[in-house]
Amino acid sequence: MKKLWGGRFKKKADAGFERFSASFIWDRRLLPYDLEIDAAHVKALKKCGVLSAAEASTLSAAISDLAEKTRSGRLRLNPKAEDVHSAIQEALRKKIGPLADKLHTARSRNDLVSQSTRLYCRAECLKIIEGARRLKLALVRQAEDCQEVLVPGMTHLQNAQVVSQAHIFLAYVQMIERAQFRLRTALTLFDVCVLGSGALAGVSYDLDQKMIARELGLSRITQNSYDVSGDRDFVLNFLSSITLLGIQFSRIAEDLLVGQARGGAVVELDEAFCTGSSMMPQKKNADFLELARGASAVFAANFAGILLLLKGLPSSYNRDLQWDKKFLFDSVERCEELLEIFIRVVKTLKINRERARELLKDESIYATDLADYLVSKGTPFARAHEEVGRLVSFAEAEKTPLSKIGLDLIQKFAPLAEGGVYAIFDARHSVRMKKTAGSAHPAEVRREIRYWKRKLKK
Ligand code: ARG
Repeated sequence: MKKLWGGRFKKKADAGFERFSASFIWDRRLLPYDLEIDAAHVKALKKCGVLSAAEASTLSAAISDLAEKTRSGRLRLNPKAEDVHSAIQEALRKKIGPLADKLHTARSRNDLVSQSTRLYCRAECLKIIEGARRLKLALVRQAEDCQEVLVPGMTHLQNAQVVSQAHIFLAYVQMIERAQFRLRTALTLFDVCVLGSGALAGVSYDLDQKMIARELGLSRITQNSYDVSGDRDFVLNFLSSITLLGIQFSRIAEDLLVGQARGGAVVELDEAFCTGSSMMPQKKNADFLELARGASAVFAANFAGILLLLKGLPSSYNRDLQWDKKFLFDSVERCEELLEIFIRVVKTLKINRERARELLKDESIYATDLADYLVSKGTPFARAHEEVGRLVSFAEAEKTPLSKIGLDLIQKFAPLAEGGVYAIFDARHSVRMKKTAGSAHPAEVRREIRYWKRKLKK
């Protein structure tokens, strides 16, 4: 196959090196974006007089034909190509002959690959952002269905205070929202036309960069060609955003895993996402959740990969940069796959109300409410905290629920307690006592659900 750079070489490339240096197995994903760029580039070459009107129209037609075949999956490119850019060049040469050789005027693969990768990132980032929206919507719908389901919220993996399961689902929505925010800001770095940068110094043609930007739907043009050829900060930023999303997935997955450890779960994973054991016939393991938790390591590793790749790399182009694709494509494809399954997982979650009621039997979750009650009767908080602490420890030793301890005994620990104290040992009462914005109060939870439903509607 003809190289884009063969002229000065007398020897054939070492076959092993040639295979090692080829990036076509990865960068074939850039095909549609390269073709989009080619189409815009032809217009610019015509405008600056490199191509006649007739030549431009022949080239444009050939490029659209390749694009059409790409869309319908019929395009066959030479699998031995060095990279996607060379493969397209060869396909065009086959189609329209030597005129194809004019296409690679006023550009280098350095600015081409940088632009093409940015367009790829933009398209995939938008896809992930949209997936995140659908995931949030699925979580909000689950929240809507379990506003009445009260459970012990946990800190340090221990029962702590009462919240609704809806409140927990809405916390997940916030976590996804923050990752999505970072993805949205990642878009800014894709949104620049870098064509015209050439290899590093710019090009000696009147290439209308603003026109190319318009053609590609980009709002800015680059300010420095030397920077462009070595800049992969947009990949780094994108991979860090995907990593955050992966971290959120891992934490949500862990919550669901912890919930189902021993004794059964309030939030049950559908069987379709579980697997069995080859030895223990009774097993139904929540493998999806573990794979999702583990996938965050893959995203983090790819992010670390790009960090290591860029660290200390001289500015402008170096071939090391080609490895960016391995990290990028792996994270993007895994993330999209995972996101789609996560949406189905959330949609099919079942709430076990019985189990939630069982968990509420642990009345230590009312300790804070009890301290607040004593404050309302005039006990300073620190003192109330201590009194309740002693009472809870007594109840634990006696294996008695707080609500079963007689008033005179309670008063021994907390002298300002009155008959009304027993109202405290009630989960509904507990959430209704919360007053702050974003709290577990049912009205706040309802408000949040309304807010998200409005916001997430397309
Ligand atoms: N495959 C290369 C990459 O992804 C394209 C750029 C090649 N440029 C060069 N100067 N060899 O980085």
